[in-house]
Amino acid sequence: MNRRDFLATSAKLTALAVLPMNIVEVAAAKESDTFTFAFISDAHLQHIKGTRFVQNWDKGLKMAVAQCNLLDPKPDFIIFGGDLAQLGKKEELDHGAEILSALHAPVKMMLGEHDYYLDLGETWQKMFGDPYYSFDHKGVHFVVLNSILVDEAWVNRWPTPMDRMQTMAGLDDPNGSPFMVGSRQREWLKKDLARYSDDTPIVIFSHSPLQKIYKGWNFWTEDCEEIYKIVKRFQKVNVIYGHVHQIQYNKIGNIAFNSVMSTAWPWPYPDSYAKAKRVVPKMTIKMNRADPFFERDATGWQFIDVHSGRVDVNYILPNNKNRTVRYNFKKNRPEDKDFQNCPQPPQIHY
Ligand SMILES: [Fe+2]
Ligand SMILES: [Fe+2]
Repeated sequence: MNRRDFLATSAKLTALAVLPMNIVEVAAAKESDTFTFAFISDAHLQHIKGTRFVQNWDKGLKMAVAQCNLLDPKPDFIIFGGDLAQLGKKEELDHGAEILSALHAPVKMMLGEHDYYLDLGETWQKMFGDPYYSFDHKGVHFVVLNSILVDEAWVNRWPTPMDRMQTMAGLDDPNGSPFMVGSRQREWLKKDLARYSDDTPIVIFSHSPLQKIYKGWNFWTEDCEEIYKIVKRFQKVNVIYGHVHQIQYNKIGNIAFNSVMSTAWPWPYPDSYAKAKRVVPKMTIKMNRADPFFERDATGWQFIDVHSGRVDVNYILPNNKNRTVRYNFKKNRPEDKDFQNCPQPPQIHY
């Protein structure tokens, strides 16, 4: 779907939602209030030797950058959602910065654990600046958090920085440690949000889900409930996260959650989703499984429309039918536009 079609469809659906209970939402949902940004994430660029990098991961990021540059109208900005590098090496971060420099819109950066645990973010910060910050755009307050911190004791227990990095880089390594935002950033967040009224739309970007989905794979943020308390007074809070390399969406209280795809590879679904039902609200439907005969299968990037303070995530999925997860104002939650009632979307390759 191109962006104009999407906007036209979106406007129609917004009009359909003109019901008394939603009248305030709809009144603010003029098309002129809509803007778009792009979200590229989890490139995992991997250095081999000299000037050689793993080609497949390079291709995924380069494809996302090229497609993003073709969007019309242009996105207002682009956020890179973390895990630019695979093992935090300077070569990987440099290589990633060079590929991202081809983007035709301002780029905002977020830190992932693969960028961090070799030198504890030293190279990344020199290149890209603070790992947590906020900004305002067209009436929406955006917050970028560094959600991949862990206990100090874990950080210092490794014989070498590369041992620490490789342990954290393993998805299911039992020697890892649960992610958290930490008290320093939570205090900063409280102060940052204090100057905004309750009806200001808030969009939070975090690398790990600000939820407790599955601890064994660090689809997890230990202090997420503390963050929920800080944002509780706001009427429209949206969290968009990377790290999980798969499509997820749900709602907890006033917060709508959407994940984004990786440009490199998909992670499978932990069995434990089923067991985590009491912790995680229904995760809705899964994406299709990766088919090894299609190189870019189950990878992708996304452009995101913000209107009425909620987000619609349009997933660009090479080799597959694109998907859209949009906010349903009538039901007050994000929903898949085409596959909401399917147990699993059909595998459609092009
Ligand atoms: Fe990742
Ligand atoms: Fe990650």
